[in-house]
Amino acid sequence: MWPYPKIVAHRGGGTLAPENTIAAMRCGLNHGFRAVEFDVMLAKDGVPVVMHDPEFGRTVAGEGSIADFTARELAARDAGAWFGEAFEGEPVPTFEQVATFCMGNGIWMNIEIKPVPGFEDRTGLVVAQTTRRLFAHMLDHSPAALPLLSSFSFDALQAAKLAAPEIPRGFLVDTIPVDWHERLLALGAIALHTNHKNLTPPLARAVKEAGFGLFCYTVNDPVRATEILAWGVDGFCTDRIDLIGPQFAGVAA
Ligand code: G3P
Ligand code: MG
Repeated sequence: MWPYPKIVAHRGGGTLAPENTIAAMRCGLNHGFRAVEFDVMLAKDGVPVVMHDPEFGRTVAGEGSIADFTARELAARDAGAWFGEAFEGEPVPTFEQVATFCMGNGIWMNIEIKPVPGFEDRTGLVVAQTTRRLFAHMLDHSPAALPLLSSFSFDALQAAKLAAPEIPRGFLVDTIPVDWHERLLALGAIALHTNHKNLTPPLARAVKEAGFGLFCYTVNDPVRATEILAWGVDGFCTDRIDLIGPQFAGVAA
């Protein structure tokens, strides 16, 4: 089951913009994408913010944990300067700001719940509740109209399921574990998300035959993209939004 776009811009704008910022979402949009993946964790005040690393240092200058700063304090930090002068002053956005931008521009979202370690349950709950509130007017529509929550954290997805069971979930893994089917059933997940490097044709076939969606990260080579689509993979995210566009290989996004 995969009622969603097939080609998804990773972290908003892939390699063309500072990841997980509004500028990145705008970049993906300007490259024709109507589907993005981004990462969400909780700030100190419990507000979900869009950020990949739990620590400062790589995309936001400084030291320390994201969980020690409020969303307002994070909004004052520069998440764009590391990428280039043109992006200086781009703030760390809240989840709600990014979701509002995406909804306003017809962009589908794969919302990756990326908890700061120790905050798994709380992050899953807050992200799911926030998503349900933002999409309250769409809950009667088909699941295709809703975003897809995903996480490497089983606990975060369990919390999301309890808090907002109607928001679809996908279980993220680096390597597909032997008990993948039981885990998907326990989570009420509709899809398995996996590292394409660890996928094989028999595994892809097993997931599809069991009736689940199969999504891969992060596919940056067009040849590889063609290969895994032929294996039955339903969709993937890419950093190379310049090479692999939303209409890649004739795929209807
Ligand atoms: O959601 C797929 C992918 O984003 C997972 O890895 O580290 O890029 O968040 P990462
Ligand atoms: Mg991610």
